[in-house]
Amino acid sequence: MGRLIAISNRTAADPKARAGGLAVAVWESLKATGGCWFGWSGELVDEIPRGTSVYRDEGVEFVLTDLTHDEHESYYLTYANRVIWPVFHYRLDLASFDSEAFKVYSAVNQRLANMVADRLVPTDTVWVHDYHFLLMGDALRHAGWEGPTGFFLHIPFPPPEMFSAIPEHHWIARALCAYSVIGFQSERDRANFERYLVDQCGGEAHEDGRISVFGTTTRIAAYPIGIDPAGFVEAAHSPVADRAAERISRFLGGRELVVGVDRMDYSKGLPQRFEAVGQFFDDHPDLHGKVSVTQIAPPSRSKVEEYQELRLELDQLAGRINGDHGDLDWIPLRYLARSYSREELAGLFRIARVGLVTPLRDGMNLVAKEFVMAQDESDPGVLVLSQFAGAAEQMQEALIVNPHDRHKVADAIHQALTMPLEERQTRWRKLRDIVVKQDIAWWRNNFLRDLEPAIPA
Ligand code: G6P
Repeated sequence: MGRLIAISNRTAADPKARAGGLAVAVWESLKATGGCWFGWSGELVDEIPRGTSVYRDEGVEFVLTDLTHDEHESYYLTYANRVIWPVFHYRLDLASFDSEAFKVYSAVNQRLANMVADRLVPTDTVWVHDYHFLLMGDALRHAGWEGPTGFFLHIPFPPPEMFSAIPEHHWIARALCAYSVIGFQSERDRANFERYLVDQCGGEAHEDGRISVFGTTTRIAAYPIGIDPAGFVEAAHSPVADRAAERISRFLGGRELVVGVDRMDYSKGLPQRFEAVGQFFDDHPDLHGKVSVTQIAPPSRSKVEEYQELRLELDQLAGRINGDHGDLDWIPLRYLARSYSREELAGLFRIARVGLVTPLRDGMNLVAKEFVMAQDESDPGVLVLSQFAGAAEQMQEALIVNPHDRHKVADAIHQALTMPLEERQTRWRKLRDIVVKQDIAWWRNNFLRDLEPAIPA
């Protein structure tokens, strides 16, 4: 195989990328093979930049472009994050459709495609990532690239009834089908896309997972993304993790720790989770003072109105729950709106009795997998996992909950806290086995294996 070329909006070169799963996952897989990573530099400028910044890190070459203020506003803030993101997370109510922004979204896809195509050689394999670049496969064709191009969607794909509410849905679907392989996180996402193509575009699904539509044939399949399990175990036992674990243990003073770590995003179900925590303390006065819930929520996309509203709502809710339940020597819900390093989080997970991962909708959710890997086999914590996270398809041994049902989530927290050691170990071993087996290399290899037959010899 020639070079692997990754394209995504944020790259591992951008410190802000660390809060999301994409950059971590792509970084882990690109580092292993070497290659080239194209994306946004994270910088904003007034005029469309002519040049790129290029540098190398751990065998990977980064080629980055700045965005103009207008591109950032229309392509990133509006079309990617106020149209596609909400609709793809089943939140039509939060979408602000905007056909002018679509034009800019389209133009940015084309501008980056031109920039990439200029640097491609025929033996390259191109792998595009996530919802910022739905049109990139088509744009690369326009830029003259004829080789196979794969696409992986890191977020969910909604049911056709929702997808078709986007005024440009047909355009997007047609452009998507210019990719040779389209990968989804879960079977549910793949089936949603197939149903859209068959029911609304006259597509014909073949038994081998390919679909013929718009005069072309594309492979669509689910490739659940994984983590680097050994790397995370190492992180959980690093000196930084030890120090973080020690600091929080001092604060806990013998109380059990229930932990959640999520980008501050409405898809993560944080208000519902806080309500469930309140319910849990309502239901179990005997556990007051004995359990501490810590939620870490690094703020994200804070220029977008819906995220600002979420922040206010969480501040209020946390205040109310602590006001209602707290005591002189006890804070029931600690909510920290800031980010911590991977090692610090790993240390936190390691000493937690319960991990709360309860998004209303999530492509995969890698925190669920990291939480599992950070546990010690002799006394493992329990994962409470939303049925609406892609991870639930693989991680059935977690306590699976409906995040909208605060009574059930409260019950699951209680069940997790009181679960006998033997049951914790049995569940944990099964979860660990799957996270280890279906890791980041498994994901990358499965995807590239399907993409490679499309590569001309
Ligand atoms: C999710 C998306 C990524 C995105 C990340 C952080 O994980 O799938 O594409 O990079 O969130 O969001 P941001 O808007 O800050 O890039």
